[in-house]
Amino acid sequence: MKFRVLLSLAFVVYESAAYPFGSHYPLPEGQVSQTFTDNFNPVKNFGGNGPYSDGRGFGISRDPPEGCSVDQVIMLHRHGERYPDVGVYQTIEKAINKLTAFEANNTLEGDLDFFSEWDFWIHNSALIAQETTTGPYAGLLDGYSQGTEYAARYKNLWDGKTKVPMFSSGYQRIIETARKFGEGFFGRNYSEIVDMNIIPEDAAQGANSLTPSCHALKTSNVCGNLTHIMPEFSVAAERLNKQNPGLTLNSTDVYALMITAAYELNANPYSPWIDVFTREEWISFGYTQDLIYYYCDGPGDAASVAAGSLYANATLTLMNQGPEKAGKLYFSFCHDVNITPVLAAIGLFTPKEDLPVDRLPFTYDYHSGDFVPMGGHLVFERMTCNQTANNEKGVYVRAVVNEAVIPFEECSSGPGFSCSLSNYTTYLNSKLKDFNAVCKTPSSYPQELTFFWNYNDTNQYDYQNGPVSYQLGLTNE
Ligand SMILES: *[C@@H]1O[C@H](CO)[C@@H](O)[C@H](O)[C@H]1NC(C)=O
Ligand SMILES: *[C@@H]1O[C@H](CO)[C@@H](O)[C@H](O)[C@H]1NC(C)=O
Ligand SMILES: *[C@@H]1O[C@H](CO)[C@@H](O)[C@H](O)[C@H]1NC(C)=O
Ligand SMILES: *[C@@H]1O[C@H](CO)[C@@H](O)[C@H](O)[C@H]1NC(C)=O
Ligand SMILES: *[C@@H]1O[C@H](CO)[C@@H](O)[C@H](O)[C@H]1NC(C)=O
Ligand SMILES: *[C@@H]1O[C@H](CO)[C@@H](O)[C@H](O)[C@H]1NC(C)=O
Ligand SMILES: *[C@@H]1O[C@H](CO)[C@@H](O)[C@H](O)[C@H]1NC(C)=O
Ligand SMILES: *[C@@H]1O[C@H](CO)[C@@H](O)[C@H](O)[C@H]1NC(C)=O
Repeated sequence: MKFRVLLSLAFVVYESAAYPFGSHYPLPEGQVSQTFTDNFNPVKNFGGNGPYSDGRGFGISRDPPEGCSVDQVIMLHRHGERYPDVGVYQTIEKAINKLTAFEANNTLEGDLDFFSEWDFWIHNSALIAQETTTGPYAGLLDGYSQGTEYAARYKNLWDGKTKVPMFSSGYQRIIETARKFGEGFFGRNYSEIVDMNIIPEDAAQGANSLTPSCHALKTSNVCGNLTHIMPEFSVAAERLNKQNPGLTLNSTDVYALMITAAYELNANPYSPWIDVFTREEWISFGYTQDLIYYYCDGPGDAASVAAGSLYANATLTLMNQGPEKAGKLYFSFCHDVNITPVLAAIGLFTPKEDLPVDRLPFTYDYHSGDFVPMGGHLVFERMTCNQTANNEKGVYVRAVVNEAVIPFEECSSGPGFSCSLSNYTTYLNSKLKDFNAVCKTPSSYPQELTFFWNYNDTNQYDYQNGPVSYQLGLTNE
């Protein structure tokens, strides 16, 4: 809209200038776009609830820096877009029921005028917590297309015949995402090539887990008390109630209806709920999600940093062993709350100060929509690089979060702002926390992450073989 207005203004100015440059032709389109819509896109304010979108980084090229080639790729991937879990489903249902009851004797007006035509998209309770399979943002589609993209990007790392282990935690939607990714990456030979290893989510896995359970309390007492705090939610409720006298929505309902928007989009091309709320309300919603990740499963919780240290440490070993000894491809699949601890452990997106809970700080570095949307993934690229004017020939590491290259703030003087593997090793060793000590892993449980080195050489789990039971681990008892 704004763009069109600007264009027509430009046209008027141009017309009235009587062709000062002696040309009848419209001005050529410039090389660069001047449109950023002030950095607003609703999908960036859904936290972990909505469809995948690429991360926003620093403009660093996704391709390897000049003189470097990737020789090992280690990915940790969240499941794709899905239906809500039962708890969120009930929250949504409660708010929707309030509107349905109101509409029994009234017609909803204003921003909610679509409601009588709207279709509650979850028609079958068996879909709850499962991957979505419909629409442009379908979860299984996301897993598959991510696989095909990476097959093209990393084609030099697989010869078309070497067997490759993959790793998924034992939760149905996660296993399904891993399989779709594998089918996308390995194509027709997926079933012969891949040895799918399913690592149970049970607490008894101890440290040998993609979803490690912490047997210590959360350090922050803020966690669990963060959802309805933004004053904008009450403003939204008031607006909708004013448009519909007698309606009694409150901030809890508004929060639930905003979640509805994100989840509906996981299964449908369009959600009218997105337009019910203003940009400012969406920005507030996004911040509540950042707070939850930060204090419950991120840098604001010491137990989470310790849990993330497990994967960070194991992958450091893989990179130091290198592709000849350890293999070139490590694709692992888990939940969002298993990725945010790893980001915290390696020091990516770690604000200098704890996020304030009483106000939105605006200039802060913890935007969960950039790192754990559905289908979010953290990739380590190990690179061998030739000598440059600034760097020695050698082995370097960089992190890619949802296709955005994110440098390590304390180690970025390598090619393309990467970090030398030896400096990364020093850097990480100074940061890693002792998982077993912090999380009080019972001594009868495994004390080390070993599955990367003693995986099973079998393809029996490559395809669905009966439903996988939910294995909710015990986290922060
Ligand atoms: C590194 O240098 C060698 C020798 O000049 C060259 O063959 C190779 O292609 C270079 N590697 C990259 C990734 O540019
Ligand atoms: C609708 O109006 C009828 C008749 O006044 C009343 O009995 C009923 O309780 C109302 N329903 C709701 C949901 O308010
Ligand atoms: C699958 O693997 C077999 C055995 O290695 C090979 O002969 C065949 O060409 C592969 N098929 C595809 C489509 O890559
Ligand atoms: C390998 O298989 C054994 C026996 O089925 C099982 O106990 C173990 O957990 C599996 N390991 C992995 C990494 O999947
Ligand atoms: C949650 O917030 C309320 C109101 O600010 C406060 O009274 C309560 O102590 C908080 N609970 C926790 C667990 O922090
Ligand atoms: C909003 O209303 C629901 C009942 O419809 C209630 O359960 C909830 O506690 C209310 N939230 C607030 C913040 O008052
Ligand atoms: C590695 O660390 C050394 C010592 O701190 C520093 O001089 C060098 O620039 C670092 N190299 C890279 C690639 O970060
Ligand atoms: C990292 O892993 C190595 C074994 O590979 C282990 O010796 C070391 O204690 C681990 N570090 C931490 C902080 O867990």
